[in-house]
Amino acid sequence: MMKAIVVTDQTAGTAGMKLAERPEPQAAINDVRVQVHASGFTWDELSWPSTWIDRLGRDRTPVIPGQELAGVVTALGYGTTGLSVGQRVFGLTDSYRGGTLAEHVAVEARNLAPLPGDVDFTVGASVAMPGLTAWQGLFEHGRLQAGQSVLVHGAAGAVGSMVTQLAREAGAHVIGTGRAAHRQTVLDLGAQEFVDLENDALEDVGGVDLVFDVFGGDIAKRSAAAIRAGGTLVTIAGPTEARPADGLTIDFVVVSYRAQLSEIIRRVRDGRLRTNIGTVSTLDDAVAAFNRTGRRKGKTIIRVRP
Ligand SMILES: NC(=O)c1ccc[n+]([C@@H]2O[C@H](COP(=O)([O-])OP(=O)(O)OC[C@H]3O[C@@H](n4cnc5c(N)ncnc54)[C@H](OP(=O)(O)O)[C@@H]3O)[C@@H](O)[C@H]2O)c1
Repeated sequence: MMKAIVVTDQTAGTAGMKLAERPEPQAAINDVRVQVHASGFTWDELSWPSTWIDRLGRDRTPVIPGQELAGVVTALGYGTTGLSVGQRVFGLTDSYRGGTLAEHVAVEARNLAPLPGDVDFTVGASVAMPGLTAWQGLFEHGRLQAGQSVLVHGAAGAVGSMVTQLAREAGAHVIGTGRAAHRQTVLDLGAQEFVDLENDALEDVGGVDLVFDVFGGDIAKRSAAAIRAGGTLVTIAGPTEARPADGLTIDFVVVSYRAQLSEIIRRVRDGRLRTNIGTVSTLDDAVAAFNRTGRRKGKTIIRVRP
């Protein structure tokens, strides 16, 4: 048995979350089992359908939340190649699987990459979700090129801070948005301009090649007008009616790929990509960390093994 955070009731949400004993997961075909050292979650993941059902739409409660992890491989499933027992790894589990707020988790090996020995587990767990999401939104879906301009919403946040840094490194002109208090943080991350969504007019921004949206709703709709002909709105906030007048809207859900994880961790190691870690808690305190209300500052990480 192992310790894990468990949720059983979708209607109760975080109120129904508790620390419990669960059976250790087994590594299936092409899986590895990982002893989790550090784990992460997204603050609104209990609202995602994939938290509660499997790929066939069946109820999968009791659920262990969390997709983000860094740890050490302890077992290989049948036919698994590419990783070995004892290897340090990091990455994301499939969203229909979750399970990282626990002492052990089973993950598809292809969803993990080696974590270099000089990178802390906390750092590995913190960059997997925001780093992959930023990478895929900018380069796969947004097809960002050097010299283009990108409007990055929530640029001080977990995902936005990675988007800002990666876009700048790629040679883009970056306009970050956020609350008034985020201005200096966003400029320090590399944005050349800042739009204070509480006081400035989004309508004053125009002619950008790409919008990276994390909010959806009205902000996504208003942002579409800022996009030049042929430009793209990429959103991670789910399906949206926001459309550039003459361009493309893409909403997507992140997928974990070893090659992209390796690109991200290389940048962390050589100082090109700064992590955005907020609170670090233990598994015993994870329910409180998940339930924390008010403003978040970066990723909350659960240090499962000290
Ligand atoms: N589709 C995908 O694959 C995918 C992947 C990752 C994340 N997501 C989703 O993306 C969203 C963002 O995730 P995250 O982890 O980056 O969250 P986050 O760390 O909370 O970042 C959001 C940022 O936007 C700011 N913000 C929020 N409301 C604002 C407003 N009205 N005006 C100005 N600034 C505002 C936040 O500031 P405060 O903290 O001060 O409010 C924070 O700096 C979540 O809904 C998450 O579920 C989707």
